[in-house]
Amino acid sequence: MADTGAEQAGTAPAREQWSGQLGFILSAIGSAVGLGNIWRFPGVAYENGGGAFLIPYLVALLTAGIPILLLDYSIGHRFRGAAPTSFRRLTRRAEGLGWFQVGVSWVIILYYTVIIAWAASYMVFAANLAWGDDPGGFFSDFLHLPEATTVSTQVVPGVLIPLVLVWVVAIAVLSLGVQRGLERANVVFIPLLVAMFAAIVVRAVTLPGALDGLTAFFTPDWPALRDPQVWIAAYGQIFFSLSIAFGIMITYSSYLRRRANLTSTGLVVGFANSSFELLAGIGVFSALGFMAAQQGVGVADLDTVAGVGLAFVAFPQILSMMPGGPVFGVLFFGALMLAGMTSLLSILQVVSAAFQEKLGWTSRQAALRLGSLAAVLSVALFSTRSGLLTLDVVDKYVNDVGVVGSAVVTTLLLGLGLRRLREMQAHLNGRPGLSLGAWWRALVGIVVPLVLGYILITGVHTLLVTHYGDYPGWFLGWFGWGTLSVAGGVAVIMTLVRWRRDVDDFTPDPLPELAGGRDTTLRGRAR
Ligand code: ALA
Repeated sequence: MADTGAEQAGTAPAREQWSGQLGFILSAIGSAVGLGNIWRFPGVAYENGGGAFLIPYLVALLTAGIPILLLDYSIGHRFRGAAPTSFRRLTRRAEGLGWFQVGVSWVIILYYTVIIAWAASYMVFAANLAWGDDPGGFFSDFLHLPEATTVSTQVVPGVLIPLVLVWVVAIAVLSLGVQRGLERANVVFIPLLVAMFAAIVVRAVTLPGALDGLTAFFTPDWPALRDPQVWIAAYGQIFFSLSIAFGIMITYSSYLRRRANLTSTGLVVGFANSSFELLAGIGVFSALGFMAAQQGVGVADLDTVAGVGLAFVAFPQILSMMPGGPVFGVLFFGALMLAGMTSLLSILQVVSAAFQEKLGWTSRQAALRLGSLAAVLSVALFSTRSGLLTLDVVDKYVNDVGVVGSAVVTTLLLGLGLRRLREMQAHLNGRPGLSLGAWWRALVGIVVPLVLGYILITGVHTLLVTHYGDYPGWFLGWFGWGTLSVAGGVAVIMTLVRWRRDVDDFTPDPLPELAGGRDTTLRGRAR
C-alpha cells in the first residue's frame, strides 16, 4: 500500500503499512502480551509480596509505562522509521541510541526464542504429564543442567529441535513483511490466545483453595511499599511487558498511516496488556492457592515459585494435582508459546527493519540473514547444558541496565537535551484521539528520568557490589556486562556503517501548533 509521505521523494521504496487501526492494535497487543505477562509477571509479583506489588505496578504503568509508550509512538510515527532511522531524523547524533535499542532487542531475541522452545516441548509433555511426581527433577533432566556454574558447549537435543522449529516459523513470518506476515499472524494468534487463556483462568479460579491465592494477590501490604526493591521490580516489569524503550513500539508505529489515532490507541494497548497481565496473575495465584491447599502450607510459603521455576516446575506440579490436568497443561503451554511467538516477531522486526533501512535489504533478505545468524547464536549460547544459567544472567542485566538505561537516555534526550517534547506532544495531539496536556511532558521530561535514573543507578550499584544470584564473578562478567558491551558494540559499529539510502531526505509533518516561523524539518534542525 503506498504512503503519501515525503519519504517517497527519496530512493527508498514506499513504506509498508498496517492494513488499518485494528491490525496495528492487535499487533501491538501481540507484542506487549508475551512471556513477560505469563512467565515473568506472576513470579515477580509473588517474589515481591503478592498484594504489595500491585500498587507499585499500577503506579509504574500510569507514571512511566503509558507516557513512554506514547513517546515511542510519537518518535516512530513522526520520523517514519525503525529506531536508528527515527533517532537520526530527530537529531543525527542520536542514531547510536537507536542502534543500542536494536542491540538490546538482538540479545533478548536470542534467549526469548529458547523459552518459547521450552514451552513448545512442555506442551507435548503436558499431554501425558510426563514429569510424573518430580517436575523439578524432570526440568533439570530436560535441560541436562550442570552440577555447578560452567559454560558448556554441549547442545541439548530436546531444546535444539523445538528451537529450530521456532526459528523456521519466525523467519517465514518475518520474511512476508508487515501486513502479510506480522499482521496476519497476530490477527489469528491473538484472539486464539485470549480464548485459550480465558479457559485456563476460569478453570483456575474454580479450583479448591483458589480464594487463598487471590487473597494473597490482591491484599495490599502497605509496609512493603517502603521497600525500594518492590518499586524497582515494578518499573522493570512494566518496560519489558509493554515492549517499550527497546525499539519495538517505535518500529511498529512507523507503519501506521499518517492520520492514525495514536493516543487513544496507546491507552487501549497499554490497558489491554495490563488487563492480560492481571488475568495471568489471577490465574496463576488461584492455581498457587490450590497447590498450597493441597500441600497444607500458606501461599507465601511455596518453594518452587521463583523465576523460571514458576512456569516450568510449579505449574506442572499443579497440573499433576488437578482434575483435567493434561488438557489445561496443553492449553497453558500452548498459550505461553503463542504469546511468546507474537512478541518475538515484534522484537525481530526491530532488528530487521533497522537493517532494511540502513543497508537497503528487503524484508526477506533481512529475515533470512539476521534470522539465520540469530538462530545459530541462540543455539550456541542458550540450547546448551548451561543455557538456563546464561539466560538468567543475560535477562537480568539486559533488562535492569539495558532497557531501563535506554529509557533514561531517551527521555533525557527528548526533554532536557533537545527540548523537543512540545513537538512530540503536538504531533500526538495533531491527530484524532485524546489530547495530551502538560502533565504528559511533566511525566516524560521530569518524573520518568528522575525515577528511572534512581532505579538505574541503584540497579547498577547492586550488580557491581553484590553478585547477582550465586554466580561467580567471571560468569557475570562475561554474560552480564559482556552482553551489555555487545549491545553497545552494535551501536558503535552500525552507526559508523554507511547508509545505503538517503535517510536524511525527510520532512516530518508540519505542526500547526508550533509553526510560528520555526523550521521543524530535520535539515532546518541540522543547521
Ligand atoms: N512485551 C513482551 C513480553 O512481555 C516482550 O514478553
